[in-house]
Amino acid sequence: MSSSLENLGTENRKFPPTPEFAAAANAKADMYVEAKADRLAFWEKQAHALHWDKPWTQVLDWKRPFAKWFIGGRLNASYNCLDRHVIEGRGDRVAFIFEGEPGDSRTYTYAQLLIEVKKTANALIELGVKDGDRVAIYMPMIPEAAIAMLACARIGAPHSVVFGGFSADALLSRIQDADAKIVITADGGYRKGSANALKPAVDDALKGETNVKYVLVVKRTGQNVEWNAERDVWWHEIVERQSAEHTAESFDSEHGLFILYTSGTTAKPKGIYHTTGGYLTQAAFTHKNVFDLKPETDVYWCTADVGWITGHSYVVYGPLINGATQVIYEGTPDSPTKGRIFEIVEKYGVTILYTAPTLIRTWMKWGDEFPNASDLSSLRLLGSVGEPINPEAWMWYREVIGGNRCPIVDTWWQTETGAIMISPLPGVTATKPGSAMGAIPGISAAVIDDNANVVGNGGGGYLALTQPWPSMLRGIWGEPERYQETYWSRYDEAGYYFAGDGAKLDDDGAIWLLGRVDDVMNVSGHRISTTEVESALVSHVAVAEAAVVGANDAMTGQAIAAFVILRGGIPNVGGEELIQELRNHVAKEIGPIAKPKQILVVAELPKTRSGKIMRRLLRDVAENRAVGDSTTLADPNVMKLIQAGLNAGSSED
Ligand code: PRX
Repeated sequence: MSSSLENLGTENRKFPPTPEFAAAANAKADMYVEAKADRLAFWEKQAHALHWDKPWTQVLDWKRPFAKWFIGGRLNASYNCLDRHVIEGRGDRVAFIFEGEPGDSRTYTYAQLLIEVKKTANALIELGVKDGDRVAIYMPMIPEAAIAMLACARIGAPHSVVFGGFSADALLSRIQDADAKIVITADGGYRKGSANALKPAVDDALKGETNVKYVLVVKRTGQNVEWNAERDVWWHEIVERQSAEHTAESFDSEHGLFILYTSGTTAKPKGIYHTTGGYLTQAAFTHKNVFDLKPETDVYWCTADVGWITGHSYVVYGPLINGATQVIYEGTPDSPTKGRIFEIVEKYGVTILYTAPTLIRTWMKWGDEFPNASDLSSLRLLGSVGEPINPEAWMWYREVIGGNRCPIVDTWWQTETGAIMISPLPGVTATKPGSAMGAIPGISAAVIDDNANVVGNGGGGYLALTQPWPSMLRGIWGEPERYQETYWSRYDEAGYYFAGDGAKLDDDGAIWLLGRVDDVMNVSGHRISTTEVESALVSHVAVAEAAVVGANDAMTGQAIAAFVILRGGIPNVGGEELIQELRNHVAKEIGPIAKPKQILVVAELPKTRSGKIMRRLLRDVAENRAVGDSTTLADPNVMKLIQAGLNAGSSED
């Protein structure tokens, strides 16, 4: 747990909703009471918000750790996101307002989006995709990314979206693990003012052994691409000539909707597997009630990329089911100016903004002049996700972005949970800066100690989820034992889900999330495992051994610090060139987001007598702190050696 968060939970400021907001809010206090009285009946009621082709006969089947929700029910995710709105007369409502980084924009009404999704579904069928086949999606943040996901959902082919910032190697391992049959990509996308190629990474990845038959390529930038005529198909060529008719089939409530890979505590990412009925129920319910969505009047904007779970639940499925009008933006927040996000808020009159603390802290650093230069008075609610938000950033978000007017919802959840679990309800909860407050109605969370005893107010421990929930992961793709082991073995007796986060209850019982307690780092709201980076480093010829830790970083939450031992005989020990090469090597193996900020060349790593690396001590070094108790080290001199050698290291350019 990071030391800068130790003071959390001593906050006395409280921000209750204004009476006007509370009176008009979608969710009222009685929702907690109702859910508590009968949790399953409560979720059943929320599931009725979806269109089911066939009703379920049982709400929950729970054979720990395997859950099934709304058993026997049948539905189609894409029908719920699109057809339904058109049939019920909302076809002319804008679904997506797309803003490209170069300044181009497009809008899609629900009726138009439905036509595109139907045509794309027909194109996938022509390419031989059948229900149950996996489709890899590796795209920039353009409307076609969502269209591709919805087309897959429409024909029952689970998608596996791989973030466009991941490398060819990372893409290959994900394609292989899910055994994807087809890859949907683009020539490139615009980032930081220029065209950023994506297709070459797909070409590289497919040099590996896969069962991929076709690559469907969206032309976004028009840049040159290599073309494999047998395998590659232009999106515009195949999609445009398809029929705009396609009847959505109904699938079982437990039919696979998607796989999304996330970092775990080993080098191999986990394919988090989500199904349809329960996932959609909770995504839609939370989107409507946590963000207080009024679909007729709100303009909602979640800045997440579809490559992450936030982009799945709160760009694609939740908002579309609720008939939201939303902004999607392709590029980076500083392109062409540091005021870009605020200009877009003003341009489209955004009312609800959902983003990550790392961006909020970056805005703070850039200066108030950027938000102040735009009219942000359309905003009425702000959300935060991905990492703990420090009280200073929370207050700045409230004052400078929200004009002291907008409630803030700090939402805790994970790829595994599928949807928001802990959050204020904006019309009910008196929020505290930096706290996610409490479990939402229908969700049971607890802070527990090592023995699974619930801690009292004022106590600290680990966050556990004590009851199954509709949008929970159904497993790790192809690895049932790993699923049991990772999440359910730690509190086997109590039967709780282990979230991997430290947490604290304050004197009022509000929950404060303190960061990961396992070997997972959180860099700019993205999960990266220490072992994944370590194995990337040791795959370089120069590296004999590596240890990686997440060090506190004022901007990115955590930053990656690597300690490496070079192989004997490697020249240029600790030289800047080699350090750069190692950093680039990690970017090539995993992606630029995993590039270590610091790499220190050391002669030894601090290990216990049983050979376990003492990361705590390395974290002390990386955070420039006095090194803590090192008496259990096999060789007590190691830390002195490491500190003496610090000058050999280097920091990010
Ligand atoms: O450590 C918690 C942190 O992000 C982890 C989940 O990461 P991921 O699966 O990538 O999903 C991120 C988006 C939902 C959690 O285990 N985390 C997420 N939201 C918060 C948070 N930590 C503190 N406060 C949050 N609001």
